[in-house]
Amino acid sequence: MASGSGSWPFAVRPLTPHLGAEILGVDVAGEMPEDRFRAIYRAFLRYQVLLFAPRDLPPARQVAFGRRFGELQIHVMNQYHADGHPELYRLSNLDQHGRPSGRHPDRGTLAWHTDGSWQRVTGQATIIYGEVMPERGGETHFCDMYGAYDRLDSAWKARIANLRAVHNLDFSRNRRHGEEPLTDTQRQARPPVDHPVVRTHPETGRKCLYLGDHAQSIVGMPYEEGRALIEQLNHLAVHPGLTYEHRWTPGQLLVWDNRCVMHRATAFEVATQPRVVRRCTVLGEVPT
Ligand SMILES: [Fe+2]
Repeated sequence: MASGSGSWPFAVRPLTPHLGAEILGVDVAGEMPEDRFRAIYRAFLRYQVLLFAPRDLPPARQVAFGRRFGELQIHVMNQYHADGHPELYRLSNLDQHGRPSGRHPDRGTLAWHTDGSWQRVTGQATIIYGEVMPERGGETHFCDMYGAYDRLDSAWKARIANLRAVHNLDFSRNRRHGEEPLTDTQRQARPPVDHPVVRTHPETGRKCLYLGDHAQSIVGMPYEEGRALIEQLNHLAVHPGLTYEHRWTPGQLLVWDNRCVMHRATAFEVATQPRVVRRCTVLGEVPT
């Protein structure tokens, strides 16, 4: 298990009393010795969300930094691939003239979720670089899912201890009005999978709630009953004492641990305000 505040070879500024930290004086675009990266990784396990100061981060350097964490996902929705790097996924509301198009690039990001939960091997870190940010809105919010589990009373914990949820990308995309559906090929490439509702983080050993917007139903439970349970738990999870709300400055980099946080983006004025981010997701493991 990661140590507490520990001693760090860089300055660490916590973003809330227990979730998130800004790492100061580290150049993620440059060459990074292994011991420096190990310390960043330790901070990642300890704080769950890491923030790095604004800097120019070329796409190739973002991919290189991501690879330090592990294997990078090549996203099934290839319409988002960016800059000739299939590991990067760009979300932009700009049209071909660079003007706000009025269309949100992915309304699914507005609901609390955890990246890659619709895959058998789920997301470990997500690494997002903010290229262009709106004056208002377009924030990223985080919720600590260790805390969400810890807050449940013993009756809740007993009730969900051995449940598994079906996660389905086709479900979470299609139920949002106006969202572009998956193609048949994309759908066949990503059939629904099931994961434990309470997962144990493979590196810290701590239990956390693992649901979010891709969770469709509960294995062995009537559909409507499972839906109600998922909605209730997703709602219970998000508590003011467990969240960090990030207001972006362009050029910042955010890294978070999908195994123990949920996140969402807030709305912005898509017809008048620009917002462009590029992200990569590191593949983790099969949840247990
Ligand atoms: Fe996401």
